[in-house]
Amino acid sequence: EKGGYDHFMLKEIFEQPQTIYDCLRGRLDAEKGTITMSGIQKYAEQIMNANRIIMVACGTSWHAGLVAEYIFEELCRINVEVEYASEFRYRNPVINKGDVIIAISQSGETADTLVAIENAKKQGAIILGVVNVVGSSISRVSDGGAYTHAGPEIGVASTKAFTAQLAVLTMIALKIGYEKGTLDKDRYMRLLDELNSVPDKVKVVLEQQERIKALAEKYKDASDALFLGRGYNFPVALEGALKLKEISYIHAEGYPAAEMKHGPIALVDENLPVVFVATKDSYHEKVISNMQEIKARKGKVIAVITEGDEHSTSLADDVIEVPEADEIVAPMLSVIPLQLLSYYVGVAKGYDVDKPRNLAKSVTVE
Ligand code: M6R
Repeated sequence: EKGGYDHFMLKEIFEQPQTIYDCLRGRLDAEKGTITMSGIQKYAEQIMNANRIIMVACGTSWHAGLVAEYIFEELCRINVEVEYASEFRYRNPVINKGDVIIAISQSGETADTLVAIENAKKQGAIILGVVNVVGSSISRVSDGGAYTHAGPEIGVASTKAFTAQLAVLTMIALKIGYEKGTLDKDRYMRLLDELNSVPDKVKVVLEQQERIKALAEKYKDASDALFLGRGYNFPVALEGALKLKEISYIHAEGYPAAEMKHGPIALVDENLPVVFVATKDSYHEKVISNMQEIKARKGKVIAVITEGDEHSTSLADDVIEVPEADEIVAPMLSVIPLQLLSYYVGVAKGYDVDKPRNLAKSVTVE
């Protein structure tokens, strides 16, 4: 049932070209320029006119919400907030009629996310679910939404569900932005093509399996690691750190790259691996200077970069290349090496990567 792979986690990482493809299929037509999502279409007016969208989720799904915040604000010009479900549900949040809540969940059973949306629904919010498990509790409470169609995810660490969430959220943002008029036709058509080419580009990233495995061997004895990124890649840095913690039990923290100056840079010495998510985007020059700051303090820089980016290569101790892509879709590529890195570090340390200690696949108690 692991399809020849040693672990479900690896199988699920390698399924991503297919799962992203499945998620887009039947919805995105790049030639006609259409995105068909009936569970979103019904609420398109309300989403377009929403004062704000609130993404509610936990863990990796919360990271997908953070990426979506950047995408929705850019393409739809709607104010977005991203909330930890556990905090949101107890905070007595201000919810106005017509606020749009997007609940993001692989399992559809996460207790905090479920109760958060039940409460918000009572207060008149529209609830959309971006959920993987068909018929799950969160999907039933939601008014509308879209399934991620990633298939069953068995590994406790979420991998293919995350990239499928990003694909769905990006499609929603593209659809709403275009219908609303905040996204012009040229960029819209270009982004449809970009999204369509993600599955093939993920395949290219996966070809670097052996190289990433070697990096895992090199860094597996680190006691800590820092993950840094800016913009669309900031949540990817958070996700990289979460994956490493879960699977390899190495203490890792993710930060917006510029925020390190406000504290974490004190940790940097020659023993600290610092993983930069540094693909070429509108933040790139800024990330480069953050990389220089780490090098100046003798940190070990591992950088996920765009193919052929010689400047970053010259600064980093180790690089992992991903194909060039628009910054809107880049997180679906830049997260892949981080999933593989944590997988191989966990395996190298002899841990049970499919069932890390103390963790359950879905957190159905608060
Ligand atoms: O099923 P959900 O997406 O609602 O689960 C949310 C988190 O519990 C989940 O993403 C968790 O953080 C994973 N172990 C991350 O790999």
